[in-house]
Amino acid sequence: MNYRILGGRALTGEVTVPGAKNAVLHLLAAALLTDEPVVLRDVPDLRDVRTQLALLEALGKRVEPLGEGTYRIAPGRALAAEAPSELVRQLRASFHVLGPLLARLGEAYVPLPGGDVLGPRPVDLHLRGLEALGADVEVVEGGVCARARRLRPATIALPYPSVGATIHLALTAALVPGTTVIENPAREPEVDEILAFLSALGAPARRKGGRIEVRGREELGGAEHRAMPDRICAGTYLLAGVLTRGELTVRCRPWHLRPFLDTLRAMGVELRESSEGVAVRCEDLRALRPVAVETEPYPGFPTDLHPPLAALLSLVPGESRIREGVFQDRFAYAQGLSALGARVRIRGREAIIEGVPQLRGAEVRVERDNRAGAALVLAALATEGESLVRDEEEQIPRGYSRFAETLRSLGADITEESLIATQPREEGE
Ligand code: UD1
Repeated sequence: MNYRILGGRALTGEVTVPGAKNAVLHLLAAALLTDEPVVLRDVPDLRDVRTQLALLEALGKRVEPLGEGTYRIAPGRALAAEAPSELVRQLRASFHVLGPLLARLGEAYVPLPGGDVLGPRPVDLHLRGLEALGADVEVVEGGVCARARRLRPATIALPYPSVGATIHLALTAALVPGTTVIENPAREPEVDEILAFLSALGAPARRKGGRIEVRGREELGGAEHRAMPDRICAGTYLLAGVLTRGELTVRCRPWHLRPFLDTLRAMGVELRESSEGVAVRCEDLRALRPVAVETEPYPGFPTDLHPPLAALLSLVPGESRIREGVFQDRFAYAQGLSALGARVRIRGREAIIEGVPQLRGAEVRVERDNRAGAALVLAALATEGESLVRDEEEQIPRGYSRFAETLRSLGADITEESLIATQPREEGE
């Protein structure tokens, strides 16, 4: 899909963010842990979610859409021990089916995963954790084969609080009778969501003194669960409100956005928080102040809001800096923002952004990262002219459901064009 945008319109109104992608993808993987039905609500309509649902079906589950983002996942055929590579290669969270399949079947093969290309994304912490639980792990060509006659509980000390490894190991431990402890786990709210879900399935899982304890069971039951609101979508829409000098209310959980909201406040953005969400208002971007931000694991500034923040900083007077502390390469937005007239320099793992008074419409291309795609759309909404954001890799629908439709409902002039219908245009037209 491509997005044709006539910028310069203030976004106003209210938006309710969909269920969190990074929770739902893992809740779906957790459905493999049980033969009882699982019902998930507020499942966002995203490409990655559709891929994960297709993966569950390929592995033997029956997926029933019940409408309005509700899915029932029940047993279908016998579980397969091998995940198909064409699905796994499309997203990173698909790799997390390895542990659950291993725990259910005693062996499993999962190809190495895909996802946003954010520099090297190894799975060493996942594999070392599975080994600690008693698995024999072999990296074979293009994938990982794991075997275990019997998994055993363990204390796993993560050298880095990886979100994926924490969740993957907690899922696996839920089917290992006894208490598994994960030390130095990720503290992202999506992890807590998975722990609550594992508890509902019958494997009590909780944080205790900075560690996670999972009390695994031989067999788990079913559960119904509503996904938490997506904090990254919430942050993206708030930034869209500020960038377009609008007035927006975003229904979300503000306490999941603490350092992000603090950053906006430090810049001078007017914010109001309530238990329902956050309201944001901005009349003049030139009155905002530059900031220096470093992305970090939760509760630090989220890496997924780095690209959309960069879009805002490109119009804030003075020199701002964003240091990327999570991924090696999160700068796929830089070329597109520059084409729109922003002044962005990348020095190692830092973006140095010199605010300009105005951006200009241009044709830009989304590459490698769905959050970079959102950043380019946001910047285009704030320009005076017309832009074409080409998303040939279909990155934006990986992370944002009904993105253009939602922005339109807030007053944006944005239309989607199918890739076939879009005529090639000269650069900068
Ligand atoms: C998850 C989120 C992603 C978010 C990220 C950080 C999902 C589906 N994705 O990704 O949107 O940007 O958390 O908040 O939930 N690492 C290793 N070895 C490992 C695992 C990770 O070196 O075995 C490194 C990675 O290369 C990366 C860093 O740790 O540099 C963070 O990765 P991790 O926290 O695992 O993020 P993901 O689970 O991939």
